[in-house]
Amino acid sequence: MALREILTVPNPVLKQVSTPVERVDDELRQLMDDMLETMYAAPGIGLAAIQVGVPRQVIVMDLARQDDPPEPRFFVNPEILWASDETAPYEEGCLSVPEVYDEVDRPARVRLRYLDYNGQEVVEEAEGLFAVCIQHEMDHLKGVLFIDHLSRLKRERAVARVRKLARAG
Ligand code: NI
Repeated sequence: MALREILTVPNPVLKQVSTPVERVDDELRQLMDDMLETMYAAPGIGLAAIQVGVPRQVIVMDLARQDDPPEPRFFVNPEILWASDETAPYEEGCLSVPEVYDEVDRPARVRLRYLDYNGQEVVEEAEGLFAVCIQHEMDHLKGVLFIDHLSRLKRERAVARVRKLARAG
């Protein structure tokens, strides 16, 4: 496994649309392993491949509490099959927008279909933090960041803040 560099705003690569994966093979599992290690090291709870510069529809996630054993999850070619009309606000953050947190409203529950680490198709429902996180990560696959859901002023402020952090090293 190897750590990859996490891209931050305003890197234009983050706006790229990711393409579906044709086959879940060892090369893809290598990418997923690297992404998981990179996410744990950050630390974060979710990461999309585009955040390490790879425009493929791949997401890794671990929502286990800090003192509990890790529960790594892998999502390849995820699709939302259904979303609740009911929405819920959540204060989101993103490894590509470090140190910025703000509230985003999203459907409270979704049903999704994806391929897992072994290429097996899974259909399941998500709610709570899982629903928030999978929708946030799936936005990345479309080149959308959580700050794109905020006002223009808040978005510009967030990018300026990240630029300043980057300059400060
Ligand atoms: Ni993110």
